[in-house]
Amino acid sequence: MSQLKDSYIQSHFTNKDPDGRRYKMADILAKGQGPARKFGEKLLEPPAGTHWRFGQEKIDELMKQGRIGFTKQGTPAVKMYLDEKEGSVVHNIWNDIPPVNPMALERVDYPTQKPEALLDRILKASSNEGDLVLDCFCGSGTTAAVAEKLKRRWITCDLGRFAIHTARKRLLGIPGVRPFVVQNLGKYERQMWQAAVFPGSARGPRAESGGPPDSPTPPTSPPSESDARGLRRAAEDDTPAACSPQRAYTEFLLQLYHAKPVRGYTWLHGLRSGRMVHVGAVDGPVTTGDVAQIAAEFKKSIGQGADAPARNGVDVLGWDFAFELNEVARQQAAAANIQMKFIRIPRDVMDKRAVESGDIHFFELGALSVDVKVAKREATLKLTEFVIPPDDVPEEARAAVKHWSQWVDYWAVDWDNQGDTFHNEWQAYRTRQDGTLTLEASHAYAEAGEYAVVVKVIDILGNDTTKTVKVRVK
Ligand SMILES: C[S@@+](CC[C@H](N)C(=O)[O-])C[C@H]1O[C@@H](n2cnc3c(N)ncnc32)[C@H](O)[C@@H]1O
Repeated sequence: MSQLKDSYIQSHFTNKDPDGRRYKMADILAKGQGPARKFGEKLLEPPAGTHWRFGQEKIDELMKQGRIGFTKQGTPAVKMYLDEKEGSVVHNIWNDIPPVNPMALERVDYPTQKPEALLDRILKASSNEGDLVLDCFCGSGTTAAVAEKLKRRWITCDLGRFAIHTARKRLLGIPGVRPFVVQNLGKYERQMWQAAVFPGSARGPRAESGGPPDSPTPPTSPPSESDARGLRRAAEDDTPAACSPQRAYTEFLLQLYHAKPVRGYTWLHGLRSGRMVHVGAVDGPVTTGDVAQIAAEFKKSIGQGADAPARNGVDVLGWDFAFELNEVARQQAAAANIQMKFIRIPRDVMDKRAVESGDIHFFELGALSVDVKVAKREATLKLTEFVIPPDDVPEEARAAVKHWSQWVDYWAVDWDNQGDTFHNEWQAYRTRQDGTLTLEASHAYAEAGEYAVVVKVIDILGNDTTKTVKVRVK
């Protein structure tokens, strides 16, 4: 592989043809006296002690191609095009690509961001257009961004939400970016914790995600992963805690949540202050499918036996909530006439010292309010409030936020959701260059009718909150 340094290109290839091709003028004289040659109509003697490097035939050919130009002094020189230069071979130590500097336009403020020039070299050296590039540790998404620009296909992963969100915004900022999906596949760090604390409970990575990515509706057709997971949990939850790691895990969390375990249910695990409690699995997000199952079982349980709920309410504890869940699930629960609360299991439960000191706090998920105005065929959405749960928010971040909208880093709208994947049809987000964010979005519908509009907000910590609103246009 060979490549010219940028600085060399800038200082040497200073000329451009009308079509933008860069070139430099190279001397065609060499040492040792030689004969005069014809350059078009001009017969030119080489200066004393030199000769023209090319014979007459080659000079005629280069003249015909327009590749010989003349200096101000009238000395012929050959045009050497940058795109024909091979450059010198790249060595094992690549110290010609500087790190991303603080003022660089490509900088996204991700601590370990790599320069695009580095990935550009790697991808050009190892792939062709249309090839598939995989980066399992994407961070700010440099590999995917460069792959996209170089017309490669790409898959990229990271275990951090902030990384995923940074990469998503970066990719969306590429002019003409092709559609892509964001999937949430599970939490392996927590699986390892579960396996260590409740030996025998680890199942290995989940093969499937919590439903299709960004899908705002519950899966309706079997086989459902929720079913399988619920039944598996139920079977294990019926064995004594001492011999079921799964039950030990559920009871551990119920105890931290100050709830008492209940028996005989598949989806409902505990009771606290008259409300039922569901404990989400460690190895994946709570999905809208789970919520449908919890709601169905809750409805059946009312007034049934000693462990029946005294109040119309379920607290759904989850480590994570599928990207689409949150507001959609709230709406689902409200439609079933159940007061459901979605409560995040704090990371602190994995911290032995925090558990021992009893310093564990559970918080409700963020809430989003959206105002809708319709004028004929045009709908205008306005974000009117966004409440972020206090969990995980560093104190300095909380203190710096003076208005709720500062929590919002990005929001997107699917104007006509068909109950399938969320389609980013409109989006607005803050960038390093422009920290402002509009809180309004409008859309003109071609046809009258009722539309399901899905609004997705991503906060500055990378958490998704999604809400569906109905819009009727005439
Ligand atoms: C050095 S950074 C990558 C930086 C990236 N090349 C860029 O230009 O921004 C490594 C990333 O790997 C992620 N990571 C670490 N362990 C991981 C794992 N087991 N699975 C997925 N991502 C992981 C981290 O969250 C971090 O974002």
